[in-house]
Amino acid sequence: MANYRICLIEGDGIGHEVIPAARRVLDAAGFDAEYVHAEAGYEYYLDHGTSVPQATYDAVENTHATLFGAATSPSGEKPAGFFGAIRHLRQKYGLYANVRPTKTRPVPGAYENVDLVIVRENTQGLYVEQERRYGDTAIADTVITKDASERIGRFAAELAMKRSKRLTVVHKSNVLPVTQGLFMNTILDHTRTVEGLNTSTMIVDNAAMQLVRNPQQFDVLVMTNMFGDILSDLAAGLVGGLGIAASGNVGDQFGIFESVHGSAPDIAGQGVANPTATILAAVLMLDHLGDHETARRLDQAVNKVLVEGPRTRDLGGTAGTQEFTDAVIKALA
Ligand code: NAI
Ligand code: MG
Repeated sequence: MANYRICLIEGDGIGHEVIPAARRVLDAAGFDAEYVHAEAGYEYYLDHGTSVPQATYDAVENTHATLFGAATSPSGEKPAGFFGAIRHLRQKYGLYANVRPTKTRPVPGAYENVDLVIVRENTQGLYVEQERRYGDTAIADTVITKDASERIGRFAAELAMKRSKRLTVVHKSNVLPVTQGLFMNTILDHTRTVEGLNTSTMIVDNAAMQLVRNPQQFDVLVMTNMFGDILSDLAAGLVGGLGIAASGNVGDQFGIFESVHGSAPDIAGQGVANPTATILAAVLMLDHLGDHETARRLDQAVNKVLVEGPRTRDLGGTAGTQEFTDAVIKALA
């Protein structure tokens, strides 16, 4: 019997390339796991009329953690019966915290000494996807509850206490005092009770500018769903881009780990996707499972290859997915 059971969901597009790459690297690192393959996403929907089958719920529920590739959400009108697979899984399993670390890696153009974590509330805000249209007027609801704000505030505060004890609550309560105000004030009510935690607030547009001008000032940032979606891509851009940005969706019971990037239809099927983001998502998964030793070795092997090459195209090199993965496996040896 293996120590761990892991669910692998390739999903769409480059998910079919980066998940097998991450699996090879996990095997080479000696991670003792048995894998359950499951399906989800737009391609699955086109063939079967639903984005997530029952077998995938069973696989997520009967494993210790899930590693997810990427899922396409077609723009415009949603086809009947279609729903975004990853947003659905986040909600179904109460994966309320989307944790997106941004750390300087040895790649061209990266800012020096950045080491921050964006904690994005993952179940509410504008992404409850309640939209409707009345003639030429379109309306989207945003949902913020006290319970969910407190839950994410607690999570972010705990994380900050394990790091440099600094937490920034990013908000727009000047314009949206009811929704954004509830989010911010609920978190501040909690953080006031956490001894030794240094909490500050920052309006989101200023936070975007500050992230570009002086990202080194930040440690842990907490924010509502859409702000976290946008600012975490911005943060990824500071340290090498989407090819290396990883994230974890965690709740009280389950964890789904994935890259920040999407299915990248423009390069899918060409064997050129950078698997680093998914490999680093596997590192977050290993830490979540408590296998810190394998996590550190994997992280170091990735850094070694980022320094010595070969590099993938998004980082200015010419290596394909396989060649890069082979190099990480060699660096592990
Ligand atoms: P994207 O993240 O898929 O791609 C943006 C750009 O970055 C593209 O030029 C792509 O080639 C490049 N890129 C992304 N990952 C890369 C990698 N590993 N290696 C090299 N280059 C990489 O975002 P886009 O194009 O806006 O969305 C495509 C689809 O993905 C959409 O259907 C969108 O809804 C979905 N999506 C899904 C996400 C998820 O599953 N969590 C997150 C973001 C988008
Ligand atoms: Mg995003």
